[in-house]
Amino acid sequence: MAREAGTRPALPGGSVESTASLPHPAGAPPGTKDFWRQEHTKFAAPHYRLEKTARLINRISGSRHLDLLDVGCGPATLGRLLHPRIRYFGIDIAVAEPASNLREADILDVPIGFDGRRFGIVVSQGVFEYLGGHQEQKLAEIAALLEEDGIFLATYTNFAHRRPYVYEAFTNIQSIERFRGSLEEHFIVHRAFPTSYNWNHGQPRRAWVRQANMRFNADLPVLGRRLGVEYFFVCSRS
Ligand SMILES: C[S@@+](CC[C@H](N)C(=O)[O-])C[C@H]1O[C@@H](n2cnc3c(N)ncnc32)[C@H](O)[C@@H]1O
Repeated sequence: MAREAGTRPALPGGSVESTASLPHPAGAPPGTKDFWRQEHTKFAAPHYRLEKTARLINRISGSRHLDLLDVGCGPATLGRLLHPRIRYFGIDIAVAEPASNLREADILDVPIGFDGRRFGIVVSQGVFEYLGGHQEQKLAEIAALLEEDGIFLATYTNFAHRRPYVYEAFTNIQSIERFRGSLEEHFIVHRAFPTSYNWNHGQPRRAWVRQANMRFNADLPVLGRRLGVEYFFVCSRS
């Protein structure tokens, strides 16, 4: 279903945005299926956060065989990076190539789900920033999809970064503390740490910065909030 683009909320604390105003791809309004279909070209090749997510999941899953649901999977690139014993399923508003393990659905219109399955791991990376007004409902739906000992791995942007960048399609902007509080309504949050530390509010590009960040999974006092680009949250059912 076509949807109006959301209005852009202010940053938490009322600070001034340092946003680059990007042109809409081919004029498609942000948040619509056409918009995302074109944006997906940016996520087709593995990017830094995706690689770190895969690394975390491969480690968290241990030697278990399990089903994983990637909410907001884009071009399903994550599936290619996971260990073969992890069975990959994805859901997204725009799926380019239909496949039995991928489902095209606007999760603002329909509940998150996949044929009544339950999952050992659910992941949502770079997605909750776009779910304005639906956060609590979507977290509740994800909690209900997890197996008893299942893990939810989420990312969320750190808008307290020293120079925050607010992408024009974001409709759901809040502090890391507030997002964590919302997670804690539905899950136990076991760990929270930056996806990367970077002077600029973007994924690290230089090889040595990427490498240093890829293996570093700790939330440093003060530095985490000022230089953390996004945060990972590792959660289980409460
Ligand atoms: C920033 S991209 C992240 C893609 C992928 N998770 C990654 O990290 O490479 C956000 C993703 O959420 C999807 N998305 C946004 N709004 C959605 C909605 N209402 N329903 C389903 N998917 C949505 C987009 O199509 C896009 O694939």
